[in-house]
Amino acid sequence: MQYINLSNGVRIPQLGLGVWQTENGRQTEDAVCWALEAGYRHIDTAKAYGNERSVGDGVRKSGIPREEIFITTKLWNEDVRAGRARAAFEKSLKELGTDYVDLYLIHWPADGFEEAWLAMEELYNAGKIRAIGVSNFHKSHLDKLASAAHIKPMVNQIESHPYFNNQELIDDCLANDIAVEVWSPLGGTGGNVLQDEVLGQLAQKYGKSPAQIVLRWDVQRKVIVIPKSIHQERIVSNFDIFDFELTDDDMKIINGLNRNRRVGPNPDNFDF
Ligand SMILES: NC(=O)c1ccc[n+]([C@@H]2O[C@H](COP(=O)([O-])OP(=O)(O)OC[C@H]3O[C@@H](n4cnc5c(N)ncnc54)[C@H](OP(=O)(O)O)[C@@H]3O)[C@@H](O)[C@H]2O)c1
Repeated sequence: MQYINLSNGVRIPQLGLGVWQTENGRQTEDAVCWALEAGYRHIDTAKAYGNERSVGDGVRKSGIPREEIFITTKLWNEDVRAGRARAAFEKSLKELGTDYVDLYLIHWPADGFEEAWLAMEELYNAGKIRAIGVSNFHKSHLDKLASAAHIKPMVNQIESHPYFNNQELIDDCLANDIAVEVWSPLGGTGGNVLQDEVLGQLAQKYGKSPAQIVLRWDVQRKVIVIPKSIHQERIVSNFDIFDFELTDDDMKIINGLNRNRRVGPNPDNFDF
């Protein structure tokens, strides 16, 4: 496992398990347990995923001490708009069954995010959150946040995969000491990124799967990556990316697959 140092010195495992569209209950508990058994130490959930409770259950069931596991959850849009950041955070803690989270993110730049951020700063200063950040923030949102904030976000979690590499925003964040986490790294549910012919050729060359090629590309791009799967075999293989290295030329080939094609909503005009 490799780690990234956040701007406040907190270390985050560079590969984590995403649990969006993973059902609360047995499905999430199993996925979390399989991941922890395989060596993952980082789980990415959100209030909106409806499975914080099972993430907490999976963590406890694994027998691995809580402090060895990096847990991220997110503040949902309706709570941002209603100015309910503190209450929403307490509810997430309760669902997770923990007394702190490692990373708390504003899920989308919903109206009122500046006020939500100030509340998150207080929770951070009170020691209830080890790092705070945002998700789906473009540069314009980051600039707006900066004019209200006392603390700079430590993370921005954004869409990025070979068909939408989002590299300009990534470079801008990294240059400003904001770590980047990439979502839908494999192209998301129902996407066709992993069927790409070039990725297939690289997979053959390295004796790896297309998913492993893409996840390795992310590690070498110095972003944090959180692939989702509900299948043990895939959870295990998605973690098996630390024993090979892509050449600079092959990194460039993957960079060249970009088509600026999102699989998720555009943060400038989301409607939820
Ligand atoms: N902040 C945000 O707004 C936001 C938005 C979207 C996602 N996220 C986070 O990012 C995580 C990942 O994104 P995502 O869930 O959208 O998509 P993803 O990780 O890119 O892709 C998940 C899809 O790929 C399949 N898959 C996983 N491993 C595979 C493998 N080795 N070979 C072939 N197929 C494989 C999964 O199927 P199975 O499950 O059936 O194996 C699932 O259909 C989410 O779970 C969530 O934590 C955040």
